[in-house]
Amino acid sequence: MTTFTKISEDERPTITVDARNVISRISDYTYGGFTEHMGRCIYGGIYDPGNPLSDENGFRKDVIEAMQDLKVPVVRYPGGNFVATYHWMDGVGPRDQRPKRPELAWQGIETNQFGTDEFMKWCKIVGTEPYLCLNMGTGTLDEALAWLEYCNGAKDTHYANLRRANGHPAPYAVKYWALGNEVYGPWQIEQTTPQSYSHKAHQWAKALKLLDPSIQLILCGESGFSSWDAHVTRACITPANLIDMYSIHLYTSSDNHLENVTAPLAAERGIQMAVSLIDLARIENSIPPSIPRPKICFDEWNVWDMFRSPGEAGAEEKYTLSDALAVSVWLNVFVRQARYIGMANVAQSVNVISPLMTTKDGIVKQTTWWPLWLFSRFMRGKTIGVNLRCGEYEGGTKPGWIRGAVDTPWLDVSAAVGKDGVVSLAVVNICGERDREVVVEGMRGVAEVWEVSGREVGVTNVEGMEEVKVREGRWDGKGAYTFPRHSLTMLRWKADV
Ligand code: AHR
Repeated sequence: MTTFTKISEDERPTITVDARNVISRISDYTYGGFTEHMGRCIYGGIYDPGNPLSDENGFRKDVIEAMQDLKVPVVRYPGGNFVATYHWMDGVGPRDQRPKRPELAWQGIETNQFGTDEFMKWCKIVGTEPYLCLNMGTGTLDEALAWLEYCNGAKDTHYANLRRANGHPAPYAVKYWALGNEVYGPWQIEQTTPQSYSHKAHQWAKALKLLDPSIQLILCGESGFSSWDAHVTRACITPANLIDMYSIHLYTSSDNHLENVTAPLAAERGIQMAVSLIDLARIENSIPPSIPRPKICFDEWNVWDMFRSPGEAGAEEKYTLSDALAVSVWLNVFVRQARYIGMANVAQSVNVISPLMTTKDGIVKQTTWWPLWLFSRFMRGKTIGVNLRCGEYEGGTKPGWIRGAVDTPWLDVSAAVGKDGVVSLAVVNICGERDREVVVEGMRGVAEVWEVSGREVGVTNVEGMEEVKVREGRWDGKGAYTFPRHSLTMLRWKADV
């Protein structure tokens, strides 16, 4: 959590950090990923048989290494909008017998050469956990139960035996299951109403937990700031205790740099509003305090301009430094709101609106790779309270309601303390023009400095010319620290607590 005190532009800003002001644990799942059958995410991304860079499974080794480097703890699959017509049975068993199907969400052809067993194997090699999303579009409850049985069944039953027959004797023990994806949206096959979804989600949840009580179920919310959220929290968060996490999604973007970097603050308000709606449901439905409050599962988030890079064209965004700073603000949001976050998944992990791009000869790390890499590496452990005194950006925002609802300081800040007692302070100087000299109160000794920046906010990373990188340095802790214009800086020092 960051408290903000607005001061005038000519006063010197101060950031006060005290490692003893621990607020809550940061879930490791905050740094989750997402792979959808969309564009070149699966085919040509993680799965590229015949490419010399792939292993004997057809998995790209450079992508696996990148996922490991990013320390991705959990990966959502197989969609996204794709899941609304996906029948998991098409994607298991002998490859030459798997059907090719028209794919409706992104208007392609699904060959089903990559399916559940391939995804499980890929997760195991990467060292990440699978998170599956159920088809609540054209899919049935029977099909969902069969998929759960196929993945997790340990008894002598039909679908568990089918898994064994396909060469996988041990259950996969998939813990996280989503009750549909964005079923509220007009772009969705079988878009539904909050009433109808709530009824169905409750019935599905009951049955799924009867089959496997060890799973965690994620309810399909919208953004936290919609009436859909008000309805489904009230209807589904009940004393029956079937819902473990509450999903919300948001994509932000603007061609205007300052609108772009302040837009993720809408997500911060969305998290707070979703938590308030969950609390309201718990009060009105008389949920005993012994039942834990569902956490937020922010299972799709990123910068995405859907007109610039449409989904049907593969959504291969070329991210700028401005976008990398927006992603840094996104990540600060999750660290600040860590007490409410059970999981977050950047959408997506490879090629589609992604920090990581593949070519046939290798990978390119986009600008947005670097904030993710730094946060996943260092912003783990516990979130700590920070007080920020600085001036505020007062121009336009996207969405417009951010202005008046949320503060938009020139510095966007969060802090964490790791198990090793090292404090990491992340500071985004969102201003494109002005460096800011800041007093960092509570900093001890010498600090490591990690900085992500570039020539100007419009620069991108393309093959052979990666303009935005991470720069490592040291600060002796004397005087004030100057946070350069349009940069993310992480200062790290050993706390004396
Ligand atoms: O991540 C791209 C798409 O964005 C997903 O398929 C969908 O859930 C969202 O609308």
